[in-house]
Amino acid sequence: MNKLLCCALVFLDISIKWTTQEAFPPKYLHYDPETSRQLMCDKCPPGTYLKQHCTARRKTVCAPCADNYYTDAWHTSDECLYCNTACKELQHVKQECSRTHNRVCECEEGRYLEVEFCLKHRSCPPGFGVVQAGTPERNTVCGRCPDGFFSNETSSKAPCRKHTNCSAFGLLLTQRGNATHDSVCSRSSESTHKCGIDVTLCEEAFFRFAVPTKFTPNWLSVLVDNLPGTKVNTESVERIKRRHSSQEQTFQLLKLWKHQNKDQDMVKKIIQDIDLCEKSVHRHLAHTNLTLEQLRSLMDSLPGKKVTAEDIETTREACQAGQQILKLLSLWRLRNGDQDTLKGLVHALKHLKTHRFPKTVAQSLKKTIRFLHSLTMYRLYQKLFLEMIGNQVQSVKISCL
Ligand SMILES: *[C@@H]1O[C@H](CO)[C@@H](O)[C@H](O)[C@H]1NC(C)=O
Ligand SMILES: *[C@@H]1O[C@H](CO)[C@@H](O)[C@H](O)[C@H]1NC(C)=O
Ligand SMILES: *[C@@H]1O[C@H](CO)[C@@H](O)[C@H](O)[C@H]1NC(C)=O
Ligand SMILES: *[C@@H]1O[C@H](CO)[C@@H](O)[C@H](O)[C@H]1NC(C)=O
Repeated sequence: MNKLLCCALVFLDISIKWTTQEAFPPKYLHYDPETSRQLMCDKCPPGTYLKQHCTARRKTVCAPCADNYYTDAWHTSDECLYCNTACKELQHVKQECSRTHNRVCECEEGRYLEVEFCLKHRSCPPGFGVVQAGTPERNTVCGRCPDGFFSNETSSKAPCRKHTNCSAFGLLLTQRGNATHDSVCSRSSESTHKCGIDVTLCEEAFFRFAVPTKFTPNWLSVLVDNLPGTKVNTESVERIKRRHSSQEQTFQLLKLWKHQNKDQDMVKKIIQDIDLCEKSVHRHLAHTNLTLEQLRSLMDSLPGKKVTAEDIETTREACQAGQQILKLLSLWRLRNGDQDTLKGLVHALKHLKTHRFPKTVAQSLKKTIRFLHSLTMYRLYQKLFLEMIGNQVQSVKISCL
């Protein structure tokens, strides 16, 4: 019995497929009085009405709908439909009436359709942010701000924002942020000269020489084993691996190694060289004092992911004039994982809207780039990575290429 039913169902399924597999153009049966036969006539396409049925000698005749009338499917009707949709209050016409469509209405900006009414999009209260923006068809979806994020406004547009990272700007955290309030930072004594720049342009230029173009999974351990002096311990290496992207890992490791070995003569020399380099960079940039707009325009010219407007504002508050560009470049590098800051800066200077940017600052930046690319600098890299560390790291570098 079951088997039979099953077979019957399979059969039914096949027969449905057979009959619904329509010919194109779709057809309909029509009794032709002239020949007393049933004919298969073509249906009429959207945008037309049926003027004359087909005959044994002639195909169906379809004619276009008049103004304000439409048909939106293949059909056999001798009339088009009237465009009867009228947009109500708080709606606008999304699609005007055409031969193939009725008029389509849509709620105006900031509202969505609920049954018949255009209601205002929900606003998310403080502590909640927009997870999914409202559309003309759908209300806003709000979500509680997760740890590390806040929203201090009632808004149908704003998502939760990240708490300001005080330490990233070299500032002290005075009040930890919560879901409704941003963190509050204050100046620390260190911030007045370092401004929380983690890896400086000079360190990056030095360290970049040791970074392979392709990373092998054990690259960091190989580097640890080959660096002379006090080894960076495994926990630190693991912590660096957890917290940073692959490129950044090398910088952080070298920085830590440099710090741990700062009393060893060879490392002292490197530190001196890097200090000299930094002094020179600061001399180049000491007199740059850019407005918010000029900083924005410089940061907009950098490729890749942009530094946020908030970061630019915080940087202006936290860092001295001559440090601001350096800080923003370091934030840009962190945001863009594997990018070379100097290359980014070269790109930016090419694409910078120069009429809004002081020529003298552009020139100072060009001089800085030239200085960091110079032969003297190259000799210093060599000293670090060829003479001192020896051929091990270089061969690793080459084998990783
Ligand atoms: C929300 O927080 C930001 C960043 O801390 C601040 O600039 C803004 O004034 C605050 N807005 C309100 C309404 O409190
Ligand atoms: C804040 O910035 C510091 C330094 O850049 C970084 O180590 C830390 O992970 C950041 N914290 C958060 C929560 O992003
Ligand atoms: C969040 O922090 C602000 C001050 O920073 C405080 O006034 C407020 O009560 C805190 N809210 C919660 C829910 O803890
Ligand atoms: C930078 O310029 C502003 C005005 O544009 C001025 O108030 C400020 O003192 C200047 N800062 C430095 C360090 O020159």
